[in-house]
Amino acid sequence: SIVFLNDSFMPMQQAKISPMDRGFLFGDGIYEVIPTYDTKLVGFGPHIARMQEGMNLIGIKLDWTEDKWREVVDALIEKNGGGNLGIYLHVSRGADIKRAHAYPNNVAPTVYAFAFEIPAANVADKAIAKTYKVNSTEDLRWKRCHIKSTALLGNVMHYQHGFEQGCNETLLFNENNELTEASACNVYVVKDGVIATPPLDNQILPGITRLILLDILTKDGSLKVEERIVTMEEVENADEIWLTSSSKEVAPVVELNGKAVGNGEIGDVWLAAQSLFSSGKY
Ligand code: PDD
Repeated sequence: SIVFLNDSFMPMQQAKISPMDRGFLFGDGIYEVIPTYDTKLVGFGPHIARMQEGMNLIGIKLDWTEDKWREVVDALIEKNGGGNLGIYLHVSRGADIKRAHAYPNNVAPTVYAFAFEIPAANVADKAIAKTYKVNSTEDLRWKRCHIKSTALLGNVMHYQHGFEQGCNETLLFNENNELTEASACNVYVVKDGVIATPPLDNQILPGITRLILLDILTKDGSLKVEERIVTMEEVENADEIWLTSSSKEVAPVVELNGKAVGNGEIGDVWLAAQSLFSSGKY
């Protein structure tokens, strides 16, 4: 595949960065994943805004406009043949000549972008929807989960915990047994037709799929949705549980810790929500 590194496009095998890059040594960087279906980007503006906010929060100075990102991303899509692609964007603080914790001055950020194939967009159809089995554990990550940092070891370890038990996500609860998110997705519960998802704070990533979904649901008005604290008890007794992320859209969870969620089938509220998301996401 063709990737972008710093200021040019090249085959992936030719892309080389310094082993002194702080992204490599410290996980000192910010990233994004933006989905494209049939070459159409989903949530481009909000994704770039979140990345810029992340860079502001950690003091990486890269003065690229949204238009500049758009040019690079459009070219990357074109060079990789379009279709259904995830676009990965990564800005690290850059390569210093020494390893020192303090942010260096006069170091140019490293910018890296690549495209990878993703499955076709979800279809609101219970017969073909991909379902998820999850387990749960205490959220042992840091208290800055609103920053989309490339330092993902905490998330990776939580995902691996579920993966080794045959699950494809892990739900995370804080020390008060309140739901935060999953290792790479935001989480929702449905009870008696009402959707609830944890509020935005430092315990979760402000997901762009979450942003788009809540916007669509609020504007449509046919489903009731609440942003509020969700307890472990509510998760265990939910009729439906969903995950959202750029690579999953709205995804139904049918099993939690080896037990059926609701009746163990994909729910009707998921069907309605994914259907609204499918038509409104661009
Ligand atoms: N993950 N929470 C976490 C911890 C995430 O890593 C992600 C995204 C989300 C959902 O955010 P969005 O809707 O903007 O994709 C929530 C990406 C896809 C990843 O790391 O691959």
